[in-house]
Amino acid sequence: MDKERIVDPNKETEDVDELSLRPQKLKEYIGQKNAKEMLEVYIKAALKRKEALDHVLLYGPPGLGKTTLASIIANELGVNIKIVSGPAIEKSGDLAAILSTLEEGDVLFIDEIHRLPRYVEEVLYSAMEDYSLDILVGQDTQKRSIRIDLPPFTLVGATTRFGDLSAPLRDRFGVILRLEYYSVDELYDIALRTSKVHEAKIDEEAARELAKRSRGTPRIVNRLFRRVRDFADVKNDGHISLDVAKDALSKLGIDDDGLDYIDYHYLKTIIETFKGGPVGIEALAASISEEVSTIEDVYEPYLLQEGYIKRSTRGRMATEKAYNKIGVKFYKGIFE
Ligand code: ADE
Repeated sequence: MDKERIVDPNKETEDVDELSLRPQKLKEYIGQKNAKEMLEVYIKAALKRKEALDHVLLYGPPGLGKTTLASIIANELGVNIKIVSGPAIEKSGDLAAILSTLEEGDVLFIDEIHRLPRYVEEVLYSAMEDYSLDILVGQDTQKRSIRIDLPPFTLVGATTRFGDLSAPLRDRFGVILRLEYYSVDELYDIALRTSKVHEAKIDEEAARELAKRSRGTPRIVNRLFRRVRDFADVKNDGHISLDVAKDALSKLGIDDDGLDYIDYHYLKTIIETFKGGPVGIEALAASISEEVSTIEDVYEPYLLQEGYIKRSTRGRMATEKAYNKIGVKFYKGIFE
């Protein structure tokens, strides 16, 4: 399925361009109360001791603000941040080159850190543990290892798949924080903040409507905001009223609960093709022509969290809520 999906929580260029509009300080960052509280203490302690902050691992579903939080950490510490993505670092030399540009206390942010090649990851171990780099130089019989000292730095790693991280890497993070889906109230506050930053006029009910349909995800509320503002610019002099928001969202194919055609297709397949389940992920993936990992990482987390599906050892099952959504009568337990 290659049609663009507006509620895809994964990053797109447009979302990255918006980074400069994000909050710069922990106090301006909305939601993630627990992560914020912990970070505030650790940052203060590091500043007080004039030491580099311990390495931080942020994990959780895509779109919840891991990159934003990493930038805030660097900003609060008053240091530079270098942002790289795990799969983009192909050779251990690439990582060594990046590490050797760091200054004392700097933050190195590695997004999708679970996708670092293993031999690159191994270079990280000594860098994280005692701020040193072991590099192999020379050819054949002349091969030897040289050690380069690095300044103390903070690695901030981000992953959507905590379970895919190797134990040696996981164990080298002193601070491990899980990010949670946002509440509608928090997303409402983010929508209002975003409209202020863009100097757009938005009614409170319209902001709440965006929040309700954003699947617990700031990246989605900001993306919906941009699309709805386009409609408002053309049809309502830039004023985002509830009517304009509802009309735009329905044209974009997003229902009252933030579900789109892909969610419907997925739920319909379980209910109609597999009689409500349980159905194994492989059979489901084949039936909707999608990769298992995309289903697990992108389609399912929100549907699970909202109770449309249940997962057991026997596979996925549609719940009564899913039947109601699709409009098929639910017969509880007949086949159980
Ligand atoms: N923009 C994106 N995520 C945000 C957050 N958590 N708080 C404020 N603005 C945001």
